[in-house]
Amino acid sequence: MNLLIVGGAGFIGSNFIRHILKKYPTYRVINLDKLTYAGNLNNLKDIEGNANYQFIKGDIADERTVKKVFRLNKIDAVINYAAETHVDRSILDPSAFIKTDILGTYNLLEGIKEYKIAKYIQVSTDEVYGSIEKGKFTEESPFKPNSPYSASKAGGDLLCRACVKTYGLPIIVTHACNCYGPYQYPEKLIPLFITNIIENKKVPLYGEGQNIREWLYVLDHGNATDFILHKGKVGEVYNIGSGVEKQNLEITHFILDELGKDEAMIEKIKDRPAHDFRYALDCTKLKRLGWQSEYDFPSALRETIRWYLANDWWWKPLKSGGYLEYYKKQYQR
Ligand code: NAD
Ligand code: DAU
Repeated sequence: MNLLIVGGAGFIGSNFIRHILKKYPTYRVINLDKLTYAGNLNNLKDIEGNANYQFIKGDIADERTVKKVFRLNKIDAVINYAAETHVDRSILDPSAFIKTDILGTYNLLEGIKEYKIAKYIQVSTDEVYGSIEKGKFTEESPFKPNSPYSASKAGGDLLCRACVKTYGLPIIVTHACNCYGPYQYPEKLIPLFITNIIENKKVPLYGEGQNIREWLYVLDHGNATDFILHKGKVGEVYNIGSGVEKQNLEITHFILDELGKDEAMIEKIKDRPAHDFRYALDCTKLKRLGWQSEYDFPSALRETIRWYLANDWWWKPLKSGGYLEYYKKQYQR
C-alpha cells in the first residue's frame, strides 16, 4: 500500500509512520509536511534512510503543492495529521488554524476527489464536541467547539462530512482524546510539565487544575488508526479514547512524584479563556469493530517521563526562543 501521511513530522504522525514502517515492511510512506514550529525531522531521524520512506516539504494550504503531490505519486490512501494544534496559540492568533485546518483540509479533499483516492482519514479531536460535565460524547453528539482551534478542526471535519454526502468520497473522520508520549512538542501539558520539572522550573497550572481530560498513549492512537485504515468503513466517524480520565492536578502530582519533586513546583495561573472543563468519549463503535487499547496509563506515562529524561537533546532546543513564556504571560494574574 502507498500511504500519503500529511503532517507526519509532528507528534502523532511521526509515531504513526514509525509504527507503519515497522509493522508493514512492504508499505511505502510519503510524508508531506510544512515543518512548522511543531514539525521536526528529528522526530523521524531513525527512519530517514528507510527505502520505503520519502519526505516532501510542503504546505497543504497551497493548492498547487497539494495537486502536485497527488499528480506525481501513486497514492492508495491518505491520512491527514496536519494541523495547527495548540489551543493557547489559537487564542492568541487563529489565522494559521483557519488556513491549515480548514483550507488545507479542503485542498486535500479536492485532491482525493480528482485523483480518485480509495481512502482518506481525517485525524480529528474530541474538542469539536465541546465540553461535557457528565456522560460521554458519541459520534452522534453535535459539534459545539469553544476555541478557535476546535472551531477550525470542526470546519475541516464538516467539509469531510459534506464531501461524503455530496460526492460520496471515501472519507473516515476520527475524534481522539488527549494523547501523550514521546516526541510531543513541549508546549502541551504533559511534555511541558515533565521538561519544566527536569529543568527545575515551576509548572503553570491553569485555574485550580480541576479540568478533566481523557488520556491516550500515542501508540494506542496509532494502533487505532492502523485498525481503522484496514477495517474502518468509509463514510463513518469513529471516536478513539482510553476511558482514562484525570484531572490536570492529578497528572501534575503523578509527574512530580515520578521526578521526586513536590507541589512547591506548582504555580497556579489565570485560567485559559473558555477552558473546556471535561472531555470524555464513548468508543463503543470502534470497540464493537474489534479495536482495543494496548497500553495502561501509569506504565505508559512512566515510560514517557523516562523518554523525556533520556532525550533532552530533542526537547531542549525547542524550549528556547521565549515563545512559551510569551503566551503564558497573557494568562498571568
Ligand atoms: P503537532 O502539532 O505535533 O503536529 C502537526 C504537524 O502538522 C506538524 O508536523 C506540522 O509541521 C504539520 N503542519 C502544520 N501545518 C501544516 C501545513 N499547512 N501543511 C503541512 N503540514 C502542516 O500535532 P499532533 O499533536 O501530532 O496532532 C496531529 C493531529 O491529531 C492534528 O490534526 C490534531 O488536531 C489531532 N489530534 C491531536 C491530539 C493530541 O492530543 N495531540 C488529540 C486528538 C487529535
Ligand atoms: O482533546 C484532544 C486535544 O488535546 C487535541 O485536539 C489538541 O491538539 C491537544 O493540544 C490537546 O488539547 P488540550 O487543550 O486539552 O491540551 P493541553 O495540553 O494544552 O492542555 C491540557 C489541559 O492542561 C487543559 O485543561 C489545559 C491545562 N494546561 C495546559 C497547559 C499547556 C495547564 O494547566 N497548563 C498548561 O501550561
